[in-house]
Amino acid sequence: MIAIGNDHAAVSLKKAVCEYLDSKGISYKDFGCGEGEKCDYPDKAKEVCEAVTSGECEKAILVCGTGVGMSMAANKIKGIRAACCSDYFSVKFTRLHNDANVLCFGERVVGAGLATELVEVFLTTEFEGGRHATRVDKITALEK
Ligand code: RB5
Repeated sequence: MIAIGNDHAAVSLKKAVCEYLDSKGISYKDFGCGEGEKCDYPDKAKEVCEAVTSGECEKAILVCGTGVGMSMAANKIKGIRAACCSDYFSVKFTRLHNDANVLCFGERVVGAGLATELVEVFLTTEFEGGRHATRVDKITALEK
């Protein structure tokens, strides 16, 4: 199960991502802001990331205007490794090397076509482990 969340600046990109997930038969839980609503990105980031840290969802996608505010808020939560990315290479390697469990991007930055490519690589790339696991453990140690 994938968690997805957005603020009012990213309703249409969130919908495009949900349509993509539907087309692939990937199950998700939408925590996001709907059409005509207003919501603050830190509140949505908290709700969505807690679905990941509780084990309800395995990964999450957070969308706001830029993706930056969502990633800043998400990375305050223990156990979350959120990456704000708008290119394929960064998404691929944040999975391979950083074991990112949350992907953030912005409706004002990326189009729906690119966003769905980013989601696909995020969901299908496995963490490499090995020497990268030692480094990810060091990220986790910074939470203490
Ligand atoms: C909302 O206007 C905007 O500030 C928010 O979506 C996001 O871009 C913050 O990082």
